[in-house]
Amino acid sequence: MTSTNRTGPDARPDVPTAEPDHTLLARLDAVDARPDAVRLRARTYALLAEAEAEAGGAGGEDGDAPFGPVLDVGCGAGLAVAELAARGVRAVGLDLDPRMLAAAELRHPTGEFRRGDAHAPPFADASFGGYRADKVLHESADPAAVVAQARRVLRPGGRIVLTGQDWDTILVDAADPALTRTLVHARADRVPGPRTARRYRALLLDAGFRDVRVEVDTWVVVDGSLLPLLVGLAESARANGTITADGCRAWIADQRERANADRSFVAVPMFVAAGTRP
Ligand SMILES: C[S@@+](CC[C@H](N)C(=O)[O-])C[C@H]1O[C@@H](n2cnc3c(N)ncnc32)[C@H](O)[C@@H]1O
Repeated sequence: MTSTNRTGPDARPDVPTAEPDHTLLARLDAVDARPDAVRLRARTYALLAEAEAEAGGAGGEDGDAPFGPVLDVGCGAGLAVAELAARGVRAVGLDLDPRMLAAAELRHPTGEFRRGDAHAPPFADASFGGYRADKVLHESADPAAVVAQARRVLRPGGRIVLTGQDWDTILVDAADPALTRTLVHARADRVPGPRTARRYRALLLDAGFRDVRVEVDTWVVVDGSLLPLLVGLAESARANGTITADGCRAWIADQRERANADRSFVAVPMFVAAGTRP
């Protein structure tokens, strides 16, 4: 992550001067700026707002307008908290990682951020009208416990919205499909819950949510912008011995060639599930 120097020639008063050098943050920034990511976040806000529509547009009992408050679990650098605030919705960001919270507080000084674990969020029962977790549940080995806690902190009629990718289901066009499958699955195996997204519906139903539905928004990336991620995918598989150095080199060369020749193709189905707390 490059930090911005406010006194330099590229000074931008709206950007904090010091952010942690944090690889995940840099990757998230790149992903979250994509138009398809902007669209997906907007969809999550619309699904959260259905609580208000169902309640006849009354908003929260504590007067929050137009719905909420919303707990954004695994808030990262606080983008959704800020976007919800811009829509007039009070949102609280919760994250385990102090570096993420530091970035969130720098970027959004008026935002409300708390450190805590999605498995034991530090909030009273029925505190929220909305609960959102974007690219987070795959990081839990016990997503059912996270969803049970989501139900606890939501008040009756409150909405939960989960979104994220299924790590086994990332499509990459490549000259060597077998090696590609190995790479994608090796990366998936490093995630505690690689297939949690395909279980969102079951998780919500099992936790007693009603009106549960699932949508998918497939991100198709053909501009080569995911090349650094693809290179990382291959290099980490080589580093842990899943593929050979020669296989790694050839796969990366193929991906570079595709990017240079405008023949890159990566597709990532992003699942979105929503439900209402009875
Ligand atoms: C991939 S990032 C997504 C961040 C943000 N939601 C976004 O869409 O840009 C996952 C975030 O979840 C946080 N996280 C992971 N496990 C968590 C847990 N058990 N409780 C709270 N936050 C968690 C990580 O620290 C990280 O900031």
